[in-house]
Amino acid sequence: MATSYLPGADMERFLTDAMKFVGFGDDDVAVIRRTGHLVLAKEQALTGALYDHFLSMPDSARFFLAADGTPDRTRLERRKHSLGKWLRQTAEAAITPDFSYYVLMIGLSHSHRAQGPDRPGGTVPARMMVGAMSLTQSALAGIFAAELPPAEAMAASISWNKLLLVQLNALLLGYVPVGESGSSSSAAPTSKGASMSDPKRLSMPVGEAMFTQRSIRKFKPDPIAMDDLNLIIDAAVKAPNGGNRQVGRFLLLTDRKKIHDEFGPLYYEAWWAKRRDEGHAWKTLDEIPAADKNHRAAAQLANEIKDAPAVVFALAINNGPANSVIPACQNLMLAARTLGIGSLPTTLHPTVMDRFRAMFKIPADVAFHFCIPLGYPRGTFGPNVRKPTSETTFLGEWGKPVPWK
Ligand code: HEM
Ligand SMILES: Cc1cc2nc3c(=O)[nH]c(=O)nc-3n(C[C@H](O)[C@H](O)[C@H](O)COP(=O)(O)O)c2cc1C
Repeated sequence: MATSYLPGADMERFLTDAMKFVGFGDDDVAVIRRTGHLVLAKEQALTGALYDHFLSMPDSARFFLAADGTPDRTRLERRKHSLGKWLRQTAEAAITPDFSYYVLMIGLSHSHRAQGPDRPGGTVPARMMVGAMSLTQSALAGIFAAELPPAEAMAASISWNKLLLVQLNALLLGYVPVGESGSSSSAAPTSKGASMSDPKRLSMPVGEAMFTQRSIRKFKPDPIAMDDLNLIIDAAVKAPNGGNRQVGRFLLLTDRKKIHDEFGPLYYEAWWAKRRDEGHAWKTLDEIPAADKNHRAAAQLANEIKDAPAVVFALAINNGPANSVIPACQNLMLAARTLGIGSLPTTLHPTVMDRFRAMFKIPADVAFHFCIPLGYPRGTFGPNVRKPTSETTFLGEWGKPVPWK
């Protein structure tokens, strides 16, 4: 479909072109108006079934979960209501400018849905929009088959299918940049060609990310979208690494139960084992002196890591060195910061390493380097506090001051 205009600037024309392409005409409009009442009579069952379907899979359920990880009933009711309104508008089959911008608005509210505690899940992936449309088509075909003589049922399914897919074109506008030729122009290529990650989403100034990326040790329970984790890891592997041998490997843990019941206690044990090695007699957070803020914060993390929504282990095959993995970890944490996700680098302890390897089936020749919990912060990012660089940097030879304070 060649377009010489910007679809968003002339939505009615965009839809009219799409209708022409699929052969949607006055006959189809008549069929839709004739059969609309059958669809609307089943509105509640239809929207209910669609949402039950979304909730049945973690990947789509994550958009509808409350802070405690259970379905947010109020939001779901609101959503069913919105979807019902969309069905009612669709049944009118009136392709007016108002309707065309209504469909564009729906598309944008999915494709540009910012991640946030009150917006769990962030952007709804395009494949789910396509999937939802397929589910709707199947459900409508079932209704028509049950309520109408075969020929009329077939005609109704065909007309509704055309209209739903014309709408899908508009719903997808926010996902695929459409250039002058109407073709996708700038979808970011990736090494595998299948990744959803778009580096443009990491648009915070790099200076702001670096100067505010402090260790976050208290996390909200909100889950992190898999697309965001995908983007964070894609950003991580762009870091330098020795000889470009790319020995770094990441093991991503998002299984809340496993984090809570298995990894959390192991981390706790490792952290306190390190304190023993350091010669401290403390056994709990309360015994650490109030002035020792670093240890208290780290002990707090040992208590709380079990509730982190995700943990990344930075590893290296062939027992590869840390210095080929650590730059990637820093990229990872900066990318997370840019998306509003907190993190910090932590380590484990020899006493737990065998159990750690067994827990995640990590082979003996894969080195462990960092454990990075991730989550939306309870509290704020940065600024992070460091010694002045005039104290830690020399010019020309050891001990010679730099010309700044
Ligand atoms: C046929 C495809 C779909 C249609 C027509 C549709 C329709 C709508 C409408 C009309 C709204 C209200 C928009 C607004 O008022 O800003 C909405 C919001 C929303 N939709 Fe969809 N939707 C579709 C697919 C999906 C899918 C596949 C998901 C996720 C699995 C999803 C998740 C959401 C969420 C999370 C909201 C915002 C609700 C909130 O946070 O309170 N939608 N949708
Ligand atoms: C090698 C390494 C190991 C670390 N291990 C831990 C850890 O086990 N627990 C912890 O809470 N923080 C750990 N940190 C985070 C540091 O404590 C933190 O970066 C430092 O105190 C500076 O604080 P900021 O990042 O908030 O600016 C580690 C950092 C590095 C680089």
